[in-house]
Amino acid sequence: MEIIVVKDNLEGAKKALEIIKEGMEQGAEVLGLATGSTPEPLYEEIIKSDLNFENMVSINLDEYVGLDKDDAQSYHYYMDEKLFSHKKFKETHLPDGKADDLAAECKRYDQVIEENPIDIQILGIGHNAHIGFNEPGAPFDGATEVVELTESTINANKRYFDHVEDVPTEAVSMGIGSIVKGKKMVLMAFGAEKAEAIKNTLEGDVTTDVPASILQKHDDVVVILDEAAASKLSEKTLA
Ligand code: F6R
Repeated sequence: MEIIVVKDNLEGAKKALEIIKEGMEQGAEVLGLATGSTPEPLYEEIIKSDLNFENMVSINLDEYVGLDKDDAQSYHYYMDEKLFSHKKFKETHLPDGKADDLAAECKRYDQVIEENPIDIQILGIGHNAHIGFNEPGAPFDGATEVVELTESTINANKRYFDHVEDVPTEAVSMGIGSIVKGKKMVLMAFGAEKAEAIKNTLEGDVTTDVPASILQKHDDVVVILDEAAASKLSEKTLA
């Protein structure tokens, strides 16, 4: 595992872009993407770059249940606005949180992942160390599932909604089993509110109570942190 401490999220975004560029030069064809505030500067850097994504497939981690694709709070909308309408990809995939049959939708999404093995997976982390929307307790070998969001996640995400009651309580999320099948993981965390989750992830036991801790077992992980997110790590971890 490589841990890179950067000055701020812009420098972090530039590092992540370098990793993506190198990966593409070495033949990466599938990029796993996240939403939320963490990858926003990365998407801005991708848009500004002259990198060509026309041969790249993207697969997003998750989508809220019950929101239309054109709902401004949906992850479809977020991805279109922040990346896809500015940079052309060969194919882009997100779960359909409005599918009539959500169980079938989860199966379909697993098939998409199976057919397009992820080369580089971009990850943010929740305050409770979730990855995707895999909340504490989610199985390490899980596939795509409808998940219930915890209070911690609902509270963290209410900033995007007018009222806390508007935050969906469920999402379709890639499972941890599918996420860690990706060849390379790039986990980014910025800000003091992520410091505890990062400490538990990198220095604690590997336990489903701390979903991101499974990354300790993956053989190709780069963690990009600003100083605040790295502030609870021991010198040994940072050495
Ligand atoms: C989003 C996702 C989540 C976020 C995490 C951090 O697709 O999968 O795991 O990465 O909740 O969110 P931010 O970046 O908004 O702090």
